[in-house]
Amino acid sequence: MLSRLSDEKISAAFRRAIREPGLLGEEDSAVIFYDLSYLKERIEDMIGLFPESALHAVAVKANPLTKILKQIKDLGAGAEAASLPELYLAEKAGFSSDKIVFDSPVKTVQEIEYALKAGIHINADSLQEIERIAVILNRISSQSTVGIRINPQVGTGSILSTSVAGEFSKFGVPIKTNREALTEIFLKYDWLCGVHLHIGSQGCEVGLIMKGIETVLIFVNEINRLLEKKKARRRIAIFDIGGGLPVSYHRDKEPVSMSQYKEELKYRFDQLFTDEFRLITEFGRYVHANTGWTASRVEYVKKEKSVTTVMIHVGADMFLRKCYRPDDWHHEITVADSCGNIKTGRDKNRYVIAGPLCFAGDMIAKETILPEIAEGDYIIIHDTGAYTLSMWSRYNSRQIPKVIGYYNDGEIFEILRERESLQTLWEFWN
Ligand code: LLP
Repeated sequence: MLSRLSDEKISAAFRRAIREPGLLGEEDSAVIFYDLSYLKERIEDMIGLFPESALHAVAVKANPLTKILKQIKDLGAGAEAASLPELYLAEKAGFSSDKIVFDSPVKTVQEIEYALKAGIHINADSLQEIERIAVILNRISSQSTVGIRINPQVGTGSILSTSVAGEFSKFGVPIKTNREALTEIFLKYDWLCGVHLHIGSQGCEVGLIMKGIETVLIFVNEINRLLEKKKARRRIAIFDIGGGLPVSYHRDKEPVSMSQYKEELKYRFDQLFTDEFRLITEFGRYVHANTGWTASRVEYVKKEKSVTTVMIHVGADMFLRKCYRPDDWHHEITVADSCGNIKTGRDKNRYVIAGPLCFAGDMIAKETILPEIAEGDYIIIHDTGAYTLSMWSRYNSRQIPKVIGYYNDGEIFEILRERESLQTLWEFWN
């Protein structure tokens, strides 16, 4: 099966949504949809591929909607929290402490203490943080396991702003200059029992991710041999491979599947699939991106000789990356009529799809050839399930659209979040 939702599947659900009494109102000029049957399938598939002992801590930052977090929890996966508020969301969604990984890159004493008291697995981001944890553990007792994030320095991928394993990165402990220091802390602290790495998001090919894992695994084996030699009766037992498996945002591209990724991992690092380690994964984009799409009504079509500008109701508020780094990111676009039927054909016009915000760069597509677009049609933006709503920008104070989940191509709908009210907006700025 292809990883992206087809136009036909999206249109089937959209047509039903438009017909469903009371689901969409006049004010719902843009709506965000999630195919929850597909999300379930992707999570079950991922869990089924890895050893039962593995923890799949799905990155909360990719999609923090609490109803979706609950679904992830009910399916048996965990949560990766990159901040204390994300940790709070994970706890509120019902994840037990053994299913949460706390990865914030900048943890305060108070935050560390909170996680340690709750028994949550912590990945320290630096040697300094390890020392901080050591001080705190001197005064409190904790069931937490602790790992350290290592930057394997294997290089950057094609998208610099989401690549984190170059020679320099703001994350983790660079291995090349800190091998000795890392060895020392593993020998010194008996509570330090895990390693963590994450290479980047989207732009890093599987080969680069594998190189990172290999670099860290070689180091782990070195340390474990050393610990054994010293009769330490402990070893590094938690191996967190992070997330970063790229997804397809293009009609004509099909990326490496989770099953192929796992096969490659197992082929190269069979050791990680034995009881020697508890494996942790932290996929976000792979789980979510292809399960979501966004529909916006076309408010105006402004025709000029050379280009036609289509004004819609989402832009750089939801598609920060696409608008600010257009060359790095892409979303396929489909045109539907007011009933949700996909429009086909190619207009001779070149279209700019522009958002509602008050700046020139607020465009989610530039000079693209699309079927004829008219006022009242819908622009459907594909693959918007990850790092879109979660990166919502408050500029121009636009209201966050209604978010709707659905099962079986729209046989069942569930409102995941109401359209933001003006009152809530007022409270935000007040
Ligand atoms: N684990 C850690 C430690 C991470 O930093 C990330 C992503 C993940 C897991 C999940 O990576 P994924 O499987 O989703 O690729 N659109 C955002 C992406 C930032 C990703 C940050 N970290 C942006 O443009 O900034």
